[in-house]
Amino acid sequence: GPDQKPSFLPANHSPPRWDLPLGGLIVVDDSGFIIHFEPSNSIKSSRYIEAHPNSLTQLSPGNFLIPTFCDLHLHAPQFLYQGNGLHLPLMKWLDEYAFKAEERLDADPILARKVYTRLAKRLIEQGTGAVLLFGTIREETNLILAEVLQSAGLRGFVGKLSMDISTRPSYVEGSTEESLASIRSFTDKMKGMVGHLPTHKRLVEPVVTPRFVPTCSDKLLHGLGKLAADESLRIQSHLAEAHDQVEWVRTERGMEDIDVFEKNNLLTQKTVQAHCTFLDIPALERVRDHRTAIAHCPLSNAYFSAEPFRLREALAEGVSVGLGTDIAGGYSIDIMSAMRQAVVMSRMREGARTMGKIPSQANLAIDWKEALYLATRGGGEALGLPQGCGTFQVGAPFDAQQIELFKLNPACGTGSFEVLGFDIDEREACPLSENMVEKWWCIGDSRNRVAMWVQGVRLSSVPLE
Ligand code: GUN
Ligand code: FE
Repeated sequence: GPDQKPSFLPANHSPPRWDLPLGGLIVVDDSGFIIHFEPSNSIKSSRYIEAHPNSLTQLSPGNFLIPTFCDLHLHAPQFLYQGNGLHLPLMKWLDEYAFKAEERLDADPILARKVYTRLAKRLIEQGTGAVLLFGTIREETNLILAEVLQSAGLRGFVGKLSMDISTRPSYVEGSTEESLASIRSFTDKMKGMVGHLPTHKRLVEPVVTPRFVPTCSDKLLHGLGKLAADESLRIQSHLAEAHDQVEWVRTERGMEDIDVFEKNNLLTQKTVQAHCTFLDIPALERVRDHRTAIAHCPLSNAYFSAEPFRLREALAEGVSVGLGTDIAGGYSIDIMSAMRQAVVMSRMREGARTMGKIPSQANLAIDWKEALYLATRGGGEALGLPQGCGTFQVGAPFDAQQIELFKLNPACGTGSFEVLGFDIDEREACPLSENMVEKWWCIGDSRNRVAMWVQGVRLSSVPLE
């Protein structure tokens, strides 16, 4: 409509307004930034179309654009063991699956490149344009990960793991000093990797990544907090994730996870903490006061956490939240799954509330539009991505995915169409309505994703292997 803005706007943490741009003109410059937007009703007289008649791409009926997804929490090396061993509790699973997968990649750069290349391909297929990653402990393996993402054209925030304590003697850094030297060297090399490129082409960045409290001595955490502050680096970790983990920290460290991170200056406005399922409302307020963001990973929480994340409460308190897949603590790399699971989990909590099991006045359920917001703009905000990332507003990079609900099939005459992924009636789907987008959100899949761009560059899902 004429007054609609082309974005998924947050309305100060109340449910976002639904501003479905029912057609419009988006103009992208050579650097991949959106420089102009016109709603559909003024397009016919657009000076842009007059000036550049040959550079116009018009979407066919049944197609629409949305911003790319943002995955705020994914363990790249664990992609190797995706979907295995989830019967175990977290601390056992880490020891028996996660650490092994990571160690294998650190020992085998050829395998690492293969796994990471496949990972990049899958991310593109699933519409994920920006991803905050945990890597492994070895510097070189993380450099491979960064290289692969940069050349695939994905925004990748690469966390070289810091861990000077481990349950696996063969998978640990030699000492606290060695660990600190390694992350310093990694951040320097990452600067070297993209430093010669213009800013908008620098897609990868290093992230200070203490794995979680149980694998990091206080001395290491202190050093990492200082390094991040001195060099203005991003930080990520796992906070208050699982019952066994929380108990471990209480027993071994005599305090809560959040206290350990806080006293070591690891809760900053450049921090994203995964899970936070065991944080109560006062603790969520502390996270908000540090302007630290949270990666909500509902599937992983269902297996490992014993407790669902207080999503509605976090949003109401003004915490910045996005979604994460937590590969391989979660088995699905698809943010569409994470969106659906976030809604499901919140609805179960709302059900518990209405039966008096959760004391709260507010409705705890989120709807599909809020989930879509978390997966796009919410994640972009949590990462502090370039201005407006996750929206189609002027000044934002053009990070977009093209969704196709149906294809007209000329061979069968007018009115017939090829269904992609799920059944719809093209008479309902064209022009695009909110109902059709909702249907796609519920039952669409990667077959409906026909193109993707990051910073205006169209990505290929053909593997680079
Ligand atoms: N906590 C520490 N390491 C991990 C990990 O690899 N996965 C998950 N889900 N939680 C963790
Ligand atoms: Fe994780």
